[in-house]
Amino acid sequence: MEKLYKEIESTMSRIESKWQKINYSTDHFPEVVWKETSSLDLSALGEVSNQLKLLDMPGVRFQQQRSTFSDLYVQIFHNGRFMIEILNWWGGHVNVHDHDFSAVQFQLKGDALNVVYDFKAEQETGALRFGSLNVRESEIWKEGGRSIVRPGDVDPHSVFHIGEPTTSLLIRTIATPRYGAQSNYFPTLAAHYYVSNDIQRKKLTALGLLSRKASKEFRMNLEKFLDTQSLSENFFMLIKLGSLLLQEDYSDILQNYADKGSLEKKLVDSVVLNNGIDFFKTKANETSDLNYDEKLAAFAVSASCNLGNLQKVISQLGNTVNPERISSGLKSFLTKLDSGDQAVAEGYLDIFGMAEFANEKV
Ligand SMILES: [Fe+2]
Repeated sequence: MEKLYKEIESTMSRIESKWQKINYSTDHFPEVVWKETSSLDLSALGEVSNQLKLLDMPGVRFQQQRSTFSDLYVQIFHNGRFMIEILNWWGGHVNVHDHDFSAVQFQLKGDALNVVYDFKAEQETGALRFGSLNVRESEIWKEGGRSIVRPGDVDPHSVFHIGEPTTSLLIRTIATPRYGAQSNYFPTLAAHYYVSNDIQRKKLTALGLLSRKASKEFRMNLEKFLDTQSLSENFFMLIKLGSLLLQEDYSDILQNYADKGSLEKKLVDSVVLNNGIDFFKTKANETSDLNYDEKLAAFAVSASCNLGNLQKVISQLGNTVNPERISSGLKSFLTKLDSGDQAVAEGYLDIFGMAEFANEKV
């Protein structure tokens, strides 16, 4: 590992001096990295055991920090302007997001489905932008491949990790404030990251506890919050409470909130669709013995959440994966769920407008 680390360090100092010549421009950082790393073989870092060897090197040890991003996050280089981080995914996932940095991403281990979206904002209020999210491009990131992360809100994307583990390495700039706060994207809106603060998290923990044994108090407190909080606070609360609110006991709370106005209605639509997105994503990760096509099909449904998007994803993947594999993958994925989950899956396929597709194609 020491030999590889020395090579990494010399590559990074070449990148530093080439990048300095273009004024450390975040927009152009990926071009420099792309060129300077064309013959750098980082594949050994796809092994967790090799990452552990690096972790014990003094220069790497002191850089470590707590991060909830990915299932194991290791930072192996940082010079104050840019850094190298390794993200290991063993079933974890993130929402559609954009970036306040630029980078080159190396797919070290496992394949992943990458879906890029267009988001058109129609109305902005506080930390929320209401609009529509549509698939622009889809591709499979193959083990050994590289891709470019552009800064700002130009390429909101979602990555679905097919391999377990899937390991990514990023050579990336530090956060660049002029691109603004990063956003998460949902089917009918985009939301800035910063809404999820400590107070909101504590409220959510408290509601979670109440929901277990004191459903009356849970209901009373949630209704009070929904009456007194901002739209964005309500959105994060409803998103995080997730499928709990779709249970029969509480479904009137969502309905009453949706009846308050058009933005509240869009917000509730997003919460319901997002529950479906999470359902397929989570089941794809948690169901044992899924093969590549079954996982990919469940992820394609999750990434699309409506029929038009799904058809786009399937045709865009056409060069790598035969469309037939995705439709039959979806069928066999559904048969591997238990009967309760099968009913939930069918409910969401219905909401996504994919029920006919799921039945007719399979
Ligand atoms: Fe990303």
